[in-house]
Amino acid sequence: MSLRHFTDLSAVSEGDLRFMLDDAVVRKARLKSGERTKPLEGKVLAMIFDKPSTRTRVSFDVGMRQLGGETIMLTGTEMQLGRSETIADTAKVLSRYVDAIMIRTTSHERLMELTENATIPVINGLTDDTHPCQLMADIMTFEEHRGPVAGKTIAWTGDGNNVLHSLLEASARFRFNLNVAVPEGSEPAQKHVDWSKAHGGKLYFTRSPEEAVDQADCVVTDCWVSMGQEHRARGHNVFSPYQVNAKLMAHAKPDALFMHCLPAHRGEEVTDEVIDGPHSVVFDEAENRLHAQKAVLAWCLGA
Ligand code: CP
Ligand code: NVA
Repeated sequence: MSLRHFTDLSAVSEGDLRFMLDDAVVRKARLKSGERTKPLEGKVLAMIFDKPSTRTRVSFDVGMRQLGGETIMLTGTEMQLGRSETIADTAKVLSRYVDAIMIRTTSHERLMELTENATIPVINGLTDDTHPCQLMADIMTFEEHRGPVAGKTIAWTGDGNNVLHSLLEASARFRFNLNVAVPEGSEPAQKHVDWSKAHGGKLYFTRSPEEAVDQADCVVTDCWVSMGQEHRARGHNVFSPYQVNAKLMAHAKPDALFMHCLPAHRGEEVTDEVIDGPHSVVFDEAENRLHAQKAVLAWCLGA
């Protein structure tokens, strides 16, 4: 089997992504029924965090344990990486010790340098550019609640950030319509838009959150300032029209879902009324990180 990295949805085939989602559903059901298997017994996942995390950190750790494997938690600053050992050398050394690496880091180039120099699978646990594991959980969550996502309409409102970039890739890979409303100056990177369109993504861009959300099956948002992006923080008045509140949700289908990768900044990108309300599936998304990532780990490690 050739080396399987999970760096981006655009880097993994549609068939493999669908295989992982189906596998995630089975693994979740098995766990709930009390069935325990240990396909990754004896395997070790190194996790490198250059940024904070709650969900990614805990779900990968617990996921590995549920599969019978173990984890080592590393932070960039505690490693020689923080004293200027190169990413490439770090990749080569870790490849001699562990079976896979999950990294949450800053620039996407760091992830790619690690991937190019590792002889074991590398998983993207978020970069400044993308967050593919989040989208696996999100699509799984959508389909749990509403059936196949293909042909459905998802609306994004807010900042054009890493989660939106992976959502753009997901729209092509999973064949749903994606409406995007972001303020001027917060547009997603053109390369993700181009990739999505070139691979069949049906995208619609507008400045109007009401128009984006109109008759949508699902409304998604995220923080207005991502980790490490504080330098490009913009006044809240720029983003406030893009807040997901009850008035905005009323434009979506009556049974529309509300999604947010969390952590949420309540009162900013979403109101309590929406995130705690009947449309919201944010904690299902968080839970499904665990199961989707077990499927990613099993796929990467051939288990
Ligand atoms: N959604 C997500 O990745 O959460 P964490 O930053 O807590 O890992
Ligand atoms: N866009 C957010 C996602 C956090 C999970 C960030 O990068 O901070």
